[in-house]
Amino acid sequence: MRALFVALLLSYASGSGKAAGASGAKGNRFVCTAVPAGTDLSCPVETTNRVQSTSPQEEELRNTIIQLRETILQQKETIVSQQGTIKELNSKLARCEADARSRGNARRKDYSKNTMGDLPRDPTETVEQLGKTMQSLKDRLENLEQLRANTTGGMFPNELRDLLKRRLTDLESQLLTRVAELEEEKSQLYNETTAHRQRTENTLNSLLERITELEKSNSAFKSPEDFKVSLPLRTNYLYGRIKKSLPEMYAFTVCMWLKSSASPGIGTPFSYGVPGQANEIVLIEWGNSPMELLVNDKVAQLPLAVSDGRWHHICITWTTRDGFWEAYQDGERLGTGENLAPWHPIKPGGVIILGQEQDIVGGRFDATQAFVGELSHFNMWDRVLRPIDISAMANCSAYMPGNVVPWVDANVEVFGGATKAALEICEDRLFDS
Ligand SMILES: *[C@@H]1O[C@H](CO)[C@@H](O)[C@H](O)[C@H]1NC(C)=O
Ligand SMILES: *[C@@H]1O[C@H](CO)[C@@H](O)[C@H](O)[C@H]1NC(C)=O
Ligand SMILES: *[C@@H]1O[C@H](CO)[C@@H](O)[C@H](O)[C@H]1NC(C)=O
Repeated sequence: MRALFVALLLSYASGSGKAAGASGAKGNRFVCTAVPAGTDLSCPVETTNRVQSTSPQEEELRNTIIQLRETILQQKETIVSQQGTIKELNSKLARCEADARSRGNARRKDYSKNTMGDLPRDPTETVEQLGKTMQSLKDRLENLEQLRANTTGGMFPNELRDLLKRRLTDLESQLLTRVAELEEEKSQLYNETTAHRQRTENTLNSLLERITELEKSNSAFKSPEDFKVSLPLRTNYLYGRIKKSLPEMYAFTVCMWLKSSASPGIGTPFSYGVPGQANEIVLIEWGNSPMELLVNDKVAQLPLAVSDGRWHHICITWTTRDGFWEAYQDGERLGTGENLAPWHPIKPGGVIILGQEQDIVGGRFDATQAFVGELSHFNMWDRVLRPIDISAMANCSAYMPGNVVPWVDANVEVFGGATKAALEICEDRLFDS
């Protein structure tokens, strides 16, 4: 830029010379020598008396140009350092993303909007800064424009005026190019930052969604017992499993809500198999047979009928004393009997399967014996419950969790397409039609 100015002065000098030559008789000639940049630029050549070589306008023009040049250099530096900042920012974000990903299975963190709190600098601020600097550059350009307008005011001879105008036009277009470049860089910086932010935000959002999803599946129900298991198809692979096993027992009560319209027979609501005895306890309604209770593979037929597609509450009690049993449906005791595996202790450590009959412990299911429908509130006690407790559960005036197997979400696993879903409230089940 300074070189340009020198050239301008030289041209100006020769221009004046020409002007002088045209008017003078002899035609004075000026010898021009190159002036190294940085030397005193008050015109080294003789001046005519018409124009002062160091007029205030020139001085100002010169200062403006020098300032502009410095500004542009500073801008360049600023941009380089800002690019450094952005690189650093990117690597921080990458680390942050990787970090967040590795915590994907952890419990929810408090991801406030301010996750990036440790950034060295807000990228938006950087871009704003750049914008301000550019504005000041434009202001200076306007001043230059003004100066140019002032030169048309007749203070300079025509040729000089034209020359100045041309030079100023050059200067202007150079400045405009630079401003355009800066605009471009600014937009690039901005796009880069925005795009990266967007990516990071997206990653964080999807992480949050996944965590929320995980949390939901852990406690989707109003309370841990307010859910049912759906076994919609007669297969040998849909089933539920109770994680808890049974202790040795000399009596038990098992209750549940169930809903099925399968025929013939609703299948096997549950089975308990132990090593050496796959039919330790089984409740099954198979083919055209009535519902049966098996204890140690001995059979009792129960007078229960529930396959009308409505919710029913059933309870079965059994005690080793004489092998006495009771069968309740919807709070009413519909049948009793004895000699069902008398004096047999229920063996511990087996597997409770919902919806399938086990031929070996935990497996070898038979599709024709599968339960089709919905099950809930499968609870077991190691004692015989009183009729009043059972009818209170069946008419929704009480809920008792089993003392050996309570119905809780965390204690029930589903497999093969069986699902857990929220359970209708008890009154809705009761008057379900
Ligand atoms: C140009 O002239 C106007 C009025 O003549 C003056 O106010 C202004 O400061 C001048 N600008 C420059 C850059 O010399
Ligand atoms: C920045 O993004 C805008 C809009 O998406 C686009 O028009 C512009 O060309 C981009 N600038 C650069 C430098 O990529
Ligand atoms: C529900 O059953 C219990 C126990 O049999 C009884 O005391 C209560 O009155 C019944 N409630 C209703 C609303 O039927």
